[in-house]
Amino acid sequence: MNDKSDMAHAARPVASTDMSRRDVLALAGATASVSVIPTLLDSTAMAETAVASITVLVSFTVNDQRQQLNIDPRQSLLDVLRETLDLPGTKKGCNQGACGACTVLVDGRRIVSCLTLASMHDDAQIETIEGLEKDGELHPLQEAFVAHEGLQCGFCTSGQIMSGLGCIAEGHSGSPEEIQFWMSGNICRCGAYPGIVAAVADAAKRS
Ligand code: FES
Ligand code: FES
Repeated sequence: MNDKSDMAHAARPVASTDMSRRDVLALAGATASVSVIPTLLDSTAMAETAVASITVLVSFTVNDQRQQLNIDPRQSLLDVLRETLDLPGTKKGCNQGACGACTVLVDGRRIVSCLTLASMHDDAQIETIEGLEKDGELHPLQEAFVAHEGLQCGFCTSGQIMSGLGCIAEGHSGSPEEIQFWMSGNICRCGAYPGIVAAVADAAKRS
């Protein structure tokens, strides 16, 4: 009887006697985690690679030149102008719509190019500061900025000029106060506002 009892004891599986139910569940959980984490990492990396490789075809005209580009649909118009088309005159200040340094005209309307995707402007007519000078002659608004010293460091100036063009075209340049109001989205850290307003008013009179 004792022999049989000893043999039965010796034959018992270790896990069923020496590991608690809690231990078994913990082990199973740990094993599952170890095997699932690499799978999740793999699928995340694959998804990122797939998204990064997606491009869209977009056509628009920039400063009278037709452009047809394969671009990342997540690229802002500002980044496409500066980095893809090598037009760095449009400045990146805040990159979040707060300073106006990136202002360009799209189909005649002024917009901040950092807050809009280039892929949204298929077939648009886009004007940047590089397109204003014609045959070596500055645009009248550019001349007015020089004449009225509407700048100091110059970082905001391309955005101010593009915004000034929009302001005049919209009919919002009837008085210095009106110009100040309608140009208020364009920040000048140097405080060259008196010259900027005078330049827009001067160009408006001559247009
Ligand atoms: S860079 Fe676009 S608003 Fe400042
Ligand atoms: S001229 Fe320097 S920020 Fe406007």
